[in-house]
Amino acid sequence: MIKTDILVIGSGAAGLSFALRVAQNDSSLRVTVATKVDRSESNTKYAQGGIAVVVDECDSFESHVQDTLTAGAGICDESIVRMVVEEAPERLKELVEWGASFDITHAGELDLGKEGGHGKNRIVHHKDVTGLEIEQKLLIQIGKTRNISILDHHFAIDLITEHHLETELVPDKRTCYGAYILDVKSGEIEPILSKITMLASGGLGQVYAHTTNPLVATGDGIAMAYRAQAKICEIEYIQFHPTALYLPEESPSFLISEAVRGEGAHLITKSGERFMSKYDNRLELASRDIVAKAIDNELKISGDNCVYLDCKHLNIEDFKNHFPNIYEKCLSIGINIEINEIPVVPAVHYSCGGVAVDSNGQTSITNLFSSGECSRTGLHGANRLASNSLLEALVYSNRSYLAAKQVLHTIEILESVSSWNEEGTIIPKEQVIISHNKKELQAIMSDYVGIAKSNDRLTRAHKRVFGLYQEVEELYEKSKVSVQLCELRNLITASHLIITQSLKQEKNQGVFYNSDLV
Ligand code: FAD
Ligand code: SIN
Repeated sequence: MIKTDILVIGSGAAGLSFALRVAQNDSSLRVTVATKVDRSESNTKYAQGGIAVVVDECDSFESHVQDTLTAGAGICDESIVRMVVEEAPERLKELVEWGASFDITHAGELDLGKEGGHGKNRIVHHKDVTGLEIEQKLLIQIGKTRNISILDHHFAIDLITEHHLETELVPDKRTCYGAYILDVKSGEIEPILSKITMLASGGLGQVYAHTTNPLVATGDGIAMAYRAQAKICEIEYIQFHPTALYLPEESPSFLISEAVRGEGAHLITKSGERFMSKYDNRLELASRDIVAKAIDNELKISGDNCVYLDCKHLNIEDFKNHFPNIYEKCLSIGINIEINEIPVVPAVHYSCGGVAVDSNGQTSITNLFSSGECSRTGLHGANRLASNSLLEALVYSNRSYLAAKQVLHTIEILESVSSWNEEGTIIPKEQVIISHNKKELQAIMSDYVGIAKSNDRLTRAHKRVFGLYQEVEELYEKSKVSVQLCELRNLITASHLIITQSLKQEKNQGVFYNSDLV
């Protein structure tokens, strides 16, 4: 049994920045970060466009607030939006102090990019690999901070709450005492007991067949929190990024950053028609929900597999300088952006909802905080504004740290936690059962719960996912726990939540669209 003051689940921007804030502020605290594969693997690592922050004197907090509210289609929490926008410059400063560097202009100012839904240039970036820069610099800082230990290849299976204690008492409001963690290399499952647990396990893009999210994004945190009876909100708002590279054999899908459209790239059909004027007067820089739906509609009309991003009119040297990663990726598959258009399609990108938290990152379970993509803060509403999510993770990790600091000295680590109760002993002889079910789930979600939904498709998806749930629960009961099986179970839970919440929706807003509703 490991005991630690703070347990962090996940090593993306949310988890690492929280761990650093706690550990650097009080060197007597022990901070343990459990992460399911190598420490750098995360959605954070692949972030391209950057972080939305008001730094330019021609910009204003009010303008960033209004753009966020407009994108969120009326269901953002305005006080949260204001708080996040206003705390952004401080968090950016801190990232720079931790070593992250961002592109600057010849005049020595931050080079600010533009993305869909933003009325101003306000995207601070490091070329087109902003997330990699942040992830690497946070990990370097962590390496220098002696009271943080990172456990790579440690998979969190379940949160420990009252129902894991050696007592029958289960109160109305639960408390989190840590988590059961599988050491993937040894196969051992141990409780890690903590005073405070931070759930920073990222997104759930892998619920779908085509996603920009890496393989780790299987909604584990949301599923764990749901099993522990935490409040989950707005999970039906699944954001599709309009421009993932169309390369059907490649998974996850490679992203062509929205910042490319911010630099002036045009969206065209196979026949060369520029179509966004039919949908929104902001054209290619309308918010993501609008551009993704427009592309989906164009593809339905034409029957084509993809539309194209035309960058041929852009300054090639500027392009190579800002987007070296995208330029090289395109070249590697025979697309020279000076001559060829880039084939693109929408792909699942971001979960706007998740584990409900208050303005300090506190979930509905005592001593359980959550930050980053697995949480629902009220910032994004029904549609996240581009480059607001790294920002959200940094702001909420800081706020969670400040809140945790207030209560930490009042919490005792609880010792009366049961060991992991491994009832199942069978090791499935063939992994194909698990991999087949995962593919089947992804197909159901992609075909029936995509950009445009209908009552009929949602009802079918509900039935099919329930069938998979029954099959997988039966397998889980009798099997020895494995990462693959846990991930499948979590993907099914996340899908179930998306479908049931979608069926309850009464109107179309933001990224949510059901053709049977108004
Ligand atoms: P992540 O960075 O995903 O980290 C989650 C961590 O939890 C990972 O380390 C994972 O391995 C670990 N984990 C998960 N489950 C478990 C488990 N069961 N046990 C242990 N560990 C677990 N946002 C922007 O603001 N700007 C951008 O430019 C931008 N570009 C993007 C480009 C791409 C291709 C993608 C995919 C996303 C982009 N986003 C962008 C979104 C943004 O990157 C993410 O929302 C943000 O990085 C999430 O950070 P996080 O720390 O919450 O989660
Ligand atoms: C992008 O670079 O287009 C991604 C930005 C985001 O998801 O916020």
